[in-house]
Amino acid sequence: MQPFEIKKDIFWVGCVDYDHRDFHGYSRSPDGSTYNAYLVKDKKNVLFDTVAPGRAGTLLCRLAKTLEPEKVDYIVCNHLEPDHAGSLAEIAGRVRPEKIFVSQAGLKSMQGYHPSQNWPVQAVKSGDTVNIGKRNIVFQETRMLHWPDSMVSYIPEDKLLLSQDIFGQNIASSARFADEFDDEGEFVKRIKEYFYNIVLPYSPTVLKTLPALEKLDIDMLAPDHGLIHRGTGGVRFILDMYRKLAEQKPQKRALVFYDTMWKSTEHMAYAVCSGLEENGVPVRLMSVKNNHHSAVVTELADCGAVMAGSPTHNNTVLPLMAAQLTYMKGLRPLNRIGGAFGSYGWSGEGPRQLQEHLAAMKMEMPCAPVACNWIPGHEALRACHELGKSVAETLRKKCDG
Ligand code: FEO
Repeated sequence: MQPFEIKKDIFWVGCVDYDHRDFHGYSRSPDGSTYNAYLVKDKKNVLFDTVAPGRAGTLLCRLAKTLEPEKVDYIVCNHLEPDHAGSLAEIAGRVRPEKIFVSQAGLKSMQGYHPSQNWPVQAVKSGDTVNIGKRNIVFQETRMLHWPDSMVSYIPEDKLLLSQDIFGQNIASSARFADEFDDEGEFVKRIKEYFYNIVLPYSPTVLKTLPALEKLDIDMLAPDHGLIHRGTGGVRFILDMYRKLAEQKPQKRALVFYDTMWKSTEHMAYAVCSGLEENGVPVRLMSVKNNHHSAVVTELADCGAVMAGSPTHNNTVLPLMAAQLTYMKGLRPLNRIGGAFGSYGWSGEGPRQLQEHLAAMKMEMPCAPVACNWIPGHEALRACHELGKSVAETLRKKCDG
């Protein structure tokens, strides 16, 4: 287990976790993820972030190949969530650091997660600088990206930004750099998946923070998960992509997600799709039985319209739809057009409730929900087609705007 030198005297000492799947309530890409940690060797040796619980041995083993762990002077905790600081007690116990740096808000997280520790913790704020020899560390708080304690560390002498969670992706691979990953389309998808499932609620904060980061001279951007962005082109690519994802400008594409009991709502969903497609809006149709809630949300990245379908079940919607809507609402998508549909046997509240769920996400709802009693016949399918058509027209106007 070797450290990997990403710049002179700066090493990746993290760990690749091929088995981990559940992450912040979202299902990771099928190959797992990485917990990236970085060691900077200088007059003061500094470890940036650690790894998940149970993985301290991997970090220490890797680190020890280039430096005796006891010679680490400082630990910087850019983010105190357990995937980065869950092994802190074990690592700090071995290293016995002279200081542990956290953000101002990090003091609270430290107290919450490690109340019995008496470590030499120092809180820093944006602009604070620590000299470590030939290099300086400049801290920048990035509150709510994506936790209150989040901050990034910039080393101007190396043009290196250590960015904790932001700009990451859940990828488990032998590659360390983004330009070594051989499937560009998949790489972009993983960035979208990560952003839409973790960062999306804080899109306005991303847009406020990007200008401050863009003022820095960066030629390597190293997150705490996944691959490292290097070179001016690689750094520009991820910064631009974050701006685009955070802006959430309308995309001419529709997500249709649904659950069905006896296929009536499924038939309606296909008719809605026809109405969209035949009016210039490509669709992504997803059954919530067959797709994880995080996969459905990832599709939102490319969709300006959101159509939800469920039969009425016990005076409400089917439980997987309720779960999907709750998850989506928490992620606070912006700037979407919505539509709702579904079948019913007797009481028929489902489609109206879907409509209310989407409206509560501040989606523009140009049409009334379409409800169909029992099995959709010609009239009901035509109403679904019309629903798709109307939403497509509204979306096209918004996109062409
Ligand atoms: Fe990678 Fe927010 O923890």
